[in-house]
Amino acid sequence: MTLHDAPDLKSFLNLAELEDAARAQLAPTTLSYYDGGANDELTVQANRGSYARLALLPRVLVDISEIDLTTSLLGTPLKLPIGIAPSALHGLAHPDAECATARAAASLGSVMTLSTLSNSTIEQVGEAAPGSWWFQLYLYRDREVSRALVQRAEAAGASALVLTVDAAYLGRRERLKRLPMVVPDTLALPNIGGAHPHPLDYFVSLLDTTLSWKDLAWLRGLTRLPIILKGILTPEDAVLAAEHGCHVWVSNHGGRQLDTAVTAIEMLPEISAAVNRRCEIYLDGGVTRGTDVLKALALGADAVFLGRAALWGLAVAGEAGVAHTLQLLADELRLAMALCGKTCLAQLGPELVRSP
Ligand SMILES: Cc1cc2nc3c(=O)[nH]c(=O)nc-3n(C[C@H](O)[C@H](O)[C@H](O)COP(=O)(O)O)c2cc1C
Repeated sequence: MTLHDAPDLKSFLNLAELEDAARAQLAPTTLSYYDGGANDELTVQANRGSYARLALLPRVLVDISEIDLTTSLLGTPLKLPIGIAPSALHGLAHPDAECATARAAASLGSVMTLSTLSNSTIEQVGEAAPGSWWFQLYLYRDREVSRALVQRAEAAGASALVLTVDAAYLGRRERLKRLPMVVPDTLALPNIGGAHPHPLDYFVSLLDTTLSWKDLAWLRGLTRLPIILKGILTPEDAVLAAEHGCHVWVSNHGGRQLDTAVTAIEMLPEISAAVNRRCEIYLDGGVTRGTDVLKALALGADAVFLGRAALWGLAVAGEAGVAHTLQLLADELRLAMALCGKTCLAQLGPELVRSP
């Protein structure tokens, strides 16, 4: 099979099989970027393993003939509690890039978070998936650059802003140092001013490393959109986020930033208890099964987001591949809920999960 021949998606029974197919197709330099975690990649491994250590406690003799996955995030109804996390450079996986990912999310009634470092423009994604996308941003030293991006995202119809707060410096991705990614000249990064031979180095040079809680007021004053802080890992910071009028995205950035950082799912119960429903809580990191989603929802997440898994689906079959990824997880989640005796998301609580 060549890179973008349409495969028979039904033959992929789970996300791991899609991942294997994507790995067989993608350039080694692209894999080095998509895969790479920080230092010894212990947090990358921990993310995946963290769900396996949690056991489910199913209840029986419940009418499970109808299972409802619908929810609402930030006041917008969704057909499933699974979204797409922001990841850079979808154009390395498929020529339709973020537009394909956004269309897939919209078609399933999900939501996609568009990375600042996208290959599709903000406006293209706004047209591709009206009402079904959020915009991820960083705050730059030159606030006018950030202001322009926020205004473009708002004008193009983003329904929320996701401010990434765990990446003022890039983690030490040794895999990427050994095998740098190759970004073809044809692949623009329109939100940071066009094509760059070393886009990550250039992008990092723009970031404001002095950023602190007081700077949120500037962002708040700029937009009426909900603001989500992505990269929260402690109850203390989650409470501060809520106190600053923001929502919380629990994440260790897919293990790409601080190696040996705690996993999101481990911290979720404490964060959920500390926040105590003052804001919404999302989670990402290592999600590959419907049971992973179920555990996160039971432990306090309002929704769960996919990073690399969406990229694998995109590489295999563009929009259809991402849609298949989401559909597989939704089907797995529906079955897992049924087998746990739960018929809607409101019934999911911590009593469903037993920790070691
Ligand atoms: C290739 C790649 C690029 C990423 N780019 C961004 C980004 O631009 N902004 C951001 O906030 N997070 C970025 N992330 C982190 C993801 O949003 C997410 O936190 C992480 O991938 C979740 O872990 P998972 O890949 O195990 O699902 C990126 C992740 C990957 C794998």
